[in-house]
Amino acid sequence: MSEQTPIAIAIDGPAAAGKSTVAKEVAKALGFTYIDTGAMYRAVTYAVIAAKKDPQKEEDAVALLPNIQIDLKPDHSIWLNGEDVSKVIRTPLVSSQVSYIAAMKPVRLAMIEQQRALATRSNVVMDGRDIGSYVLPHAQVKIFQIASVECRAKRRYLEDQEKNIPATYEEVLEEVKKRDYIDSHRDFDPLMAAPDSISLDTSNMTVKEVVNAILDIVKEKTGLEGERC
Ligand code: DC
Repeated sequence: MSEQTPIAIAIDGPAAAGKSTVAKEVAKALGFTYIDTGAMYRAVTYAVIAAKKDPQKEEDAVALLPNIQIDLKPDHSIWLNGEDVSKVIRTPLVSSQVSYIAAMKPVRLAMIEQQRALATRSNVVMDGRDIGSYVLPHAQVKIFQIASVECRAKRRYLEDQEKNIPATYEEVLEEVKKRDYIDSHRDFDPLMAAPDSISLDTSNMTVKEVVNAILDIVKEKTGLEGERC
């Protein structure tokens, strides 16, 4: 049997653009593995906070790195050193600190190594900020998903409410703006659209419409037909 290069679909974009919801659906439709790279940076952030270290100090985070084992399970739960951290990594405290951790080059290099290894093992849909531009530059499909900052903040606020995460719309809006700024202004590997990515403005689209638009692009680029919902 001949070895086939796995297929990678990169879905990048700013905070709260709805990438993970869409990426999970696209992965399900195609039978691909979904990889949430933001959750990896969140897990590192949580590990630093739980160790009572400063998430804005690079030496604190780097010292902990060798003791951080992150597992992304097939049911999409996120595990840190054998603990299910799926919920705690979404709390406002972690959200407010994660951009500092994600701006640290040694942290990024460690996460990127794991992300690249995952993409060699199976076909993946990977969502993040730098997947098409840096992590998987040879991804067969690259989507850059955008939406207005107000629209993204509103979506994130409604999601938080559903999960009983306490925060006002104004707080969420400020948070999203701050993360956008830090994520796109860091020195190493900032948030950016890969030159060969396809931009999708989802401000006025439903999740189903976005998923179907991406499946159309996948079909055109790879010939693969995903199961439509
Ligand atoms: O997608 P998210 O909100 O869970 O991401 C959390 C943070 O991690 C976000 O502020 C930016 C950072 N991130 C990154 O720098 N690179 C990635 N590939 C994914 C996320």
